Amino acid sequence: MTETPLYEGKAKKIFPTGQADQYLVVYKDDATAFNGAKKGQIESKGQLNNAISSIFFELLAKNGIKSHFIRQVDANSMLVKKVAIIPLEVVTRNIAAGSLSKRLGWPEGRELPKPIVEFYYKDDALGDPLINNQHIAALGLVTPLELEFLEREALAINEVLKAHLLSRNVKLVDFKLEFGRVGHEILLADEISPDTCRFWDAQTNQKLDKDRFRQDLGQVTEAYQEIFARLTRQATNFQAKVKVRLKPGVLDPQGEAILRSLNSLGYKSFQSIRVGKLIELVLSGENQAEVESLVAKIADELLANPNMEKFNVAVEPLK
Ligand SMILES: Nc1ncnc2c1ncn2[C@@H]1O[C@H](COP(=O)(O)OP(=O)(O)OP(=O)(O)O)[C@@H](O)[C@H]1O
Ligand SMILES: [Mg+2]
Repeated sequence: MTETPLYEGKAKKIFPTGQADQYLVVYKDDATAFNGAKKGQIESKGQLNNAISSIFFELLAKNGIKSHFIRQVDANSMLVKKVAIIPLEVVTRNIAAGSLSKRLGWPEGRELPKPIVEFYYKDDALGDPLINNQHIAALGLVTPLELEFLEREALAINEVLKAHLLSRNVKLVDFKLEFGRVGHEILLADEISPDTCRFWDAQTNQKLDKDRFRQDLGQVTEAYQEIFARLTRQATNFQAKVKVRLKPGVLDPQGEAILRSLNSLGYKSFQSIRVGKLIELVLSGENQAEVESLVAKIADELLANPNMEKFNVAVEPLK
């Protein structure tokens, strides 16, 4: 790595490497918003965005979506394939927010009937304006076929990211992608991070992205850390056993019937028989205490009849 970057952007520096077709991308803590009008720093953002982007590029690769990502190098940097960036910001939206809410008067948080893909012309001097397919053709940025590819790719990426994030209790509201050319191929490039996506907590809609910086909501680093934590949380498989028994004093016809049969077969020493049930469950969770309380909750709601039955729960990691 040489000392001077080839290019320094608002969020990242691009360095040449020993390989002519590879770049080292170094993520910075600098933050900007409103096309550079608001500037600041978000502590640890560089390493968080580098780690989060690496996780997303790896997830996408597993799902058949190629990108510039080669590997994470260290806390703040990743090795990528050098591409010629196509000057289009490809934005996909699931829920109204930001400029879409402003443009159409749709309240922030409105679910869209289906995902919407938008294209913005990547030009800081013009303020990255929204453009349509005809502007794109007139500008000669991509061919109609390539544009179709970008839209399809954005929607496919949306499905992968949306499902994965939801399993981590995060709603994917919208996100911006950049693509670039290498030879005849178009690859997903740049970054996928809380700087370039809107992430909301799935239960509370709490914002976990750069809107906390844009809107001075505070706890900005904490939000980025929370996204990283949710993406890296390891789930373990547990086995839970729920024993359900009749409460003392509740009539047990099944137990009575077994007792009568034993007596009639000549087994006279049995005094009392109570029949219960054993329910075995396998589930994933973060830790034993969390799994125990979840299983107790569903046992109370569903597995046992609280008027007549009591239950106990035993949980252990699945071997
Ligand atoms: N694989 C890649 N090859 C070449 N350039 C890339 C690659 N991935 C990202 N870039 C470009 O690196 C630059 C630095 O990123 P950064 O996010 O800091 O830029 P920026 O300040 O947002 O500015 P802008 O995107 O307007 O140039 C961006 O121009 C981005 O498009
Ligand atoms: Mg950028």
